[in-house]
Amino acid sequence: MNAAIEIRGLNKYFGKRQVLNNVTMTLNEGEVFGFLGPNGAGKTTTIKMIVGLLAIDSGTITVCGHDVEKDFVGAMECMGGIVENPETYKYMTGLQNLRQYARMRKGITQERIMEVVELVGLSNRINEKVSKYSLGMKQRLGLAQALLHHPKVLILDEPTNGLDPAGIKSLRDILKKLAHQEGVCVLVSSHMMSEMELMCDRVGIIMKGSIVDVKTIDELVAQSRGTTLTFHYHVEKAAEAFEALKEQFTELTGHVMDDTHFELTYSSELGDTYIGRLNHFLFSDNFTIYTVLPVTNRHLEDVFLEITAEGGEQIA
Ligand SMILES: Nc1ncnc2c1ncn2[C@@H]1O[C@H](COP(=O)(O)OP(=O)(O)O)[C@@H](O)[C@H]1O
Ligand SMILES: [Mg+2]
Repeated sequence: MNAAIEIRGLNKYFGKRQVLNNVTMTLNEGEVFGFLGPNGAGKTTTIKMIVGLLAIDSGTITVCGHDVEKDFVGAMECMGGIVENPETYKYMTGLQNLRQYARMRKGITQERIMEVVELVGLSNRINEKVSKYSLGMKQRLGLAQALLHHPKVLILDEPTNGLDPAGIKSLRDILKKLAHQEGVCVLVSSHMMSEMELMCDRVGIIMKGSIVDVKTIDELVAQSRGTTLTFHYHVEKAAEAFEALKEQFTELTGHVMDDTHFELTYSSELGDTYIGRLNHFLFSDNFTIYTVLPVTNRHLEDVFLEITAEGGEQIA
C-alpha cells in the first residue's frame, strides 16, 4: 500500500493556546480512514491544514508525495474535499452547478460530469433546482463536485452531520466503493464511533490535539470484546445440553435460562474457533441447535470513550 497522506509532527497554536500537539499519521491509498474524536479535539484544524485553509506552524503534510507548503498546487491537484458546507447555487439545477464548477478546473469532460452524477446516485434528480434538494442530496452534489477531477485523496469533515440513516448508508456505500474499487484514500472525520465502525477500515483517534490511537476497525472490535466471549444458545433441551457441555469442557461457565435457552461464557484466549468445538460436540451428542448468537457485552462506543478518557494530556 502506498501512503496517500503523510502527516509528521504537526503543531498548531491559536494565540498562545496549543490545539494540535505533534500529530503524526499515515493514510493509505484504497482505505476509508476515520478521523475520530470529540468536539474540539482538533479534527477540523488538522483537515484545514491538509487542504491549505490554515497555515502550518510546524511539522509537514504531504499529499500523494506533494508537500502542501512547498508544492501546494501539486497537492491540490490530487485532492478533493468538503470542509465547510458545500457551496452551491440554489437557483440552478444540480447539473448546472457541476458544469459551473467544472469550468474552473481543466480537462473535465461532459462524460466525467455524468459519471460522478451516477456515482453519487443523483442521476434522476440532477435536473432539479438545488433549492429542492434534501440535505443528503446537497451533500451528494458536493461530493460529486469534489470528485470531478479524479482526486486520489478525498477529504470530508463530519460528512454525516445532519444526515438521516438512509443518507448515511448511501454515503457509506459511495465512500467504500471509491476506496475499495478505485483506490481513493478517503479521510472522514466524525465524533461518533458507531458511524465510523461501519464506514471505515481504520480509525485515528484524536483527543485534545494529540493522536491517542490508530487502529483497524477489526482491532477495535477485538478490544471491545474484552477478555471473555459469551454466546446465547437456543436448543432443544437446554438443561441437558448445558450439563453435557460443562462436563466435557470444564472451563465453561454460564447458566440455563429456560427449557430451550442457555448462555455460556469462556475466555477469549481459547480463540475464535473454540465455539466450533462446542457446537460439534453438541451435534455429535444428538442435541438439536436452533441458533447460537454472540452476546456483545461491550459496545465499540465504550472502547472509544475509554481510549479518549485515558489518552491525551490537557494542553490548554
Ligand atoms: N480560528 C480559531 N481561533 C481560535 N481557536 C480555534 C479556532 N478554530 C478552532 N479553535 C479551537 O481549536 C480547538 C480545536 O477545534 P477544531 O479543530 O474545530 O475541533 P473539532 O473539529 O475536532 O471539533 C477547539 O478548542 C477550538 O475552539
Ligand atoms: Mg470540526
